[in-house]
Amino acid sequence: DTVVLAYSGGLDTSCILVWLKEQGYTVIAFLANIGQTEDFDAAQKKALALGAKKVYIQDVCREFVEDFIWPAVHANALYEDRYMLGSALARPCIARHLVLIAQEEGARYIAHGATGKGNDQVRFELGCYALCPSIKVIAPWRMPEFYQRFPGRRELMEYAQKHGIPVPVTPKAPWSMDENLMHISYEAGILENPKNRAPLDLYTKTCNPTTSPDVPDELEIEFEKGVPVKVTNTRNGVTHRSALELFVYLNDIASKHGVGRVDIVENRFVGMKSRGIYETPAGTILYHAHLDIEAFTMDREVRKIKQGLSLKFSELVYNGFWYSPECEFLKHCIARSQQAVAGTVHVSVFKGQVYILGRESPHSLYNEELVRLKEYHRLQSKVSTKQDE
Ligand code: ARG
Ligand code: SIN
Repeated sequence: DTVVLAYSGGLDTSCILVWLKEQGYTVIAFLANIGQTEDFDAAQKKALALGAKKVYIQDVCREFVEDFIWPAVHANALYEDRYMLGSALARPCIARHLVLIAQEEGARYIAHGATGKGNDQVRFELGCYALCPSIKVIAPWRMPEFYQRFPGRRELMEYAQKHGIPVPVTPKAPWSMDENLMHISYEAGILENPKNRAPLDLYTKTCNPTTSPDVPDELEIEFEKGVPVKVTNTRNGVTHRSALELFVYLNDIASKHGVGRVDIVENRFVGMKSRGIYETPAGTILYHAHLDIEAFTMDREVRKIKQGLSLKFSELVYNGFWYSPECEFLKHCIARSQQAVAGTVHVSVFKGQVYILGRESPHSLYNEELVRLKEYHRLQSKVSTKQDE
């Protein structure tokens, strides 16, 4: 039997790879390049050395931006008012490729290394089952024969040593991380006590705003149909147009100015609260810019309804229902609301903040003359009271 394993290159999924082989499976490893920092060549060699029959490494960055992040920008998607859903959006993107590879390879099984307590197991599994109901998911961290054998990191390390799995030389960070083009998350370990502050050296995607530059960067962000199509830095004229390139550029600018950090306690789908720290640099700039151009161009009543849909959309995405009919329906409704969301927002990025400086749009619903009229009447009545005196 063949299994496609969602492989990360790390210790856990390396042990899972070898363990699956021990159980008699033929293992095909899939490692998505979804914008994380990783030595993909080394990971490929490692998986092959551990006995994977085949290793797929696929760059999915562009589709991650266009098919997953852009709908979130449309929606101004936030889970529980603060989390920008970086991990939740990546899972259905990865699941799609796991299923494609399973179908291509005639594999009946898909395996992942998510724990039995989190959201990611749900997202991978609902994603895979929605796209291919006949697939069987193997989740070793929920199988007694696996988790009883590996009650802690020590047992994983021993197993790794025994089976020629390279053991990480750098000491493991005392928390768990999940990184992609949109965000990085930190949770578990010393962060499990919600009172503990994040150490300053935890952050990897953004600078500390207290030491970030004293000069802001100013950007013009142009939107069409609710998504950015052009970003210009007005200080140096640098311009980016394609979805992926402009997103990467916004990540750089936001990172430099310490934009996008949050530290929250959230409600996991499976029924527990968890503490998470996130860095979402480009996503945070786009959130503010999009909100602004949307308010400028969207009908008032449509906006109210759309806001309710977005709340539901965010919850569905968080809970792993990306490929459900209801989520599909909401995504299309929300996209329909974006037809006239176009124009340019001028922002300043500075000291952990995104400041809106101005906006213009061919579809503006703002009527300068109309607002000015009121001012005119008020002035006029002032003038007439003066004259009356
Ligand atoms: N709590 C976040 C979420 O549910 C982040 C999950 C991070 N995943 C991970 N494998 N560390 O989306
Ligand atoms: C995990 O359980 O593997 C990570 C945390 C989560 O998915 O919520």
